[in-house]
Amino acid sequence: MVANGWHPGMRESATFDRNTIAEIQRAAREGIYAIKGFGAKRRVPHFDDLLLLGASVSRYPLEGYRERCETDVIIGARSAREPVHLDIPITIAGMSFGALSGPAKEALGRGASEVGTSTTTGDGGMTDEERSHSRILVYQLLPSRYGMNPDDLRRADAVEVVVGQGAKPGGGGMLLGHKLSERVAAMRDLPQGIDQRSACRHPDWTGPDDLEIKIEELREITDWRIPIYVKIGASRTAYDVALAVKAGADAIVLDGMQGATAATQEVFIEHVGIPILAAIPQAVESLEELGMHRVVQLVVSGGIRTGADVAKALALGADAVSIGQAALIALGDNAPEHDEEYRALGSAAGFYDDYQAGLDPAGISTQEERLLARFDPVEGGRRLANYLRTLVLETQALARACGKSHVRNLEPEDLVALTIEAAAMARVPLAGTSWIPGHAHSLA
Ligand SMILES: Cc1cc2nc3c(=O)[nH]c(=O)nc-3n(C[C@H](O)[C@H](O)[C@H](O)COP(=O)(O)O)c2cc1C
Repeated sequence: MVANGWHPGMRESATFDRNTIAEIQRAAREGIYAIKGFGAKRRVPHFDDLLLLGASVSRYPLEGYRERCETDVIIGARSAREPVHLDIPITIAGMSFGALSGPAKEALGRGASEVGTSTTTGDGGMTDEERSHSRILVYQLLPSRYGMNPDDLRRADAVEVVVGQGAKPGGGGMLLGHKLSERVAAMRDLPQGIDQRSACRHPDWTGPDDLEIKIEELREITDWRIPIYVKIGASRTAYDVALAVKAGADAIVLDGMQGATAATQEVFIEHVGIPILAAIPQAVESLEELGMHRVVQLVVSGGIRTGADVAKALALGADAVSIGQAALIALGDNAPEHDEEYRALGSAAGFYDDYQAGLDPAGISTQEERLLARFDPVEGGRRLANYLRTLVLETQALARACGKSHVRNLEPEDLVALTIEAAAMARVPLAGTSWIPGHAHSLA
C-alpha cells in the first residue's frame, strides 16, 4: 500500500468518481436532493481561459508609479436624478440577512464603504446596522417580497429588481428552519424555525410588460431619484438583457452560473445557466444593438476572485463587477483557524459549503447567537476593504500594462483565449491566431 490508501490497480471511474458515488449513497439514504451553499464546483470556461495582451512595440504601457489609472464608475444616469457614483468598479453582491448574520452584513457595509463602493441587501430586507454602515446601499426587490418595505426603498441609494440568480436561473430560494431566528422570522413575517421557500417568480408578473410597470412603480415610490437595476441569472442572456433594457432598467446585473448561493439544490447549482464568460459578450451585443452600451451599465458576477478576473470582465465590456463568495472568504469564511470545527461538521477549511446548515464556525452564515458573536464586524470590514484594495491595484496594474489611463478603456482587443471554447464564447481570438470561432472574418 502507498500513500492515501491507494493500491496499484485501484482506478477511479471518470463517470462514477468518488463524489458521484457518495452522492448516490446519500440520496439512497435520505431520499431528497442535496442542498448546498457556495457556487458550482465543476470546471467551466472562465476568465482563467483568457489572457491579456500587455503593451510592447505596437502599444505603449503606462508607468505604474507616475501615471494615473482611474477606476471610478457612474451607474444609473440613464434616468435617475441621483445616479450611483462608485470609486471602484467592484461592488458587493446582494446576500440576504438570514443567510448571513447581522454582523456579517454590517461588515460588508463597512468594507465596501471604506473603499467607496456599494453593498446590497438581499432576501429578507434591510437591517438598520447594514444601512447605517453602508455609504451606498442597493435595496433588492425579490420575488418573495420577504422584508419588503416601501420606507426602506426610499432609504436606499438604488433598487435592484431580482429576476434571477446565476446559481439558479428559474429557481427560487430556500432558508432552512434553523436559520429562521426570532429576528429573521419577524422581518419576513414568517413563523420561527420553519423551512422557508422563496418564490421563483414575482407574484405580480406574467411577462416583460409587467416588468416595465414594476419599474415605473418603483420610480414613483422613489420619486425618480435613484437608479433601478435589474438582476438576471445568465441563461438566454441576449433576449433577457434586451427585454430588461426595454422595460426601463438603468443597469443590468448579470450573474453567471458560477455565482454562489446561500442554499440551493446542488443539481441546480451545477447544471443550470451559462458561465459569465459566455454571457458578457451576449449582453454587450444586446446593449449595442439597442444603442445602450455604456448608457445602461452592465455589472457582472459569477466567480470573480482576482484583479485579473476584474480586468478581463471589463475588457469584455462590463462597466463593473460584483462579488459574493470572494467577499465572504475575505470576511473570514473558510479560514484555516476554524479547520478543527469545520472537520467536526464533516468538512474542512477550504471546503466548507454548508451555509444552509446555519452552523458556521466563522459566525458568518449563521443566526446562532453563540456563533455570530465570534465574528467581529470591524475586523471583518477591514479585511474586506484590504481585499477590495488589492483587487483594484491588480486591475490597475493590468490596465496600465495594456496602456489604459482608465480601467474602463480595457477592450476585447486586449484579450486572447487559451482554448477554442473560450475563444468562441468570449468572442476573442485564440492566442497566437486571428481566429475567433464562429466569426467568418479574420482579425489580422
Ligand atoms: C450567502 C449568499 C447569499 C445570497 N443571497 C442572495 C440574495 O438574497 N439575493 C440575490 O440576488 N443573490 C443572492 N446571492 C447571490 C449573490 O448576489 C451573487 O449573485 C453571487 O454571489 C455572485 O457570484 P460570486 O459569489 O461568484 O461572486 C447570495 C450569495 C451568497 C453566497
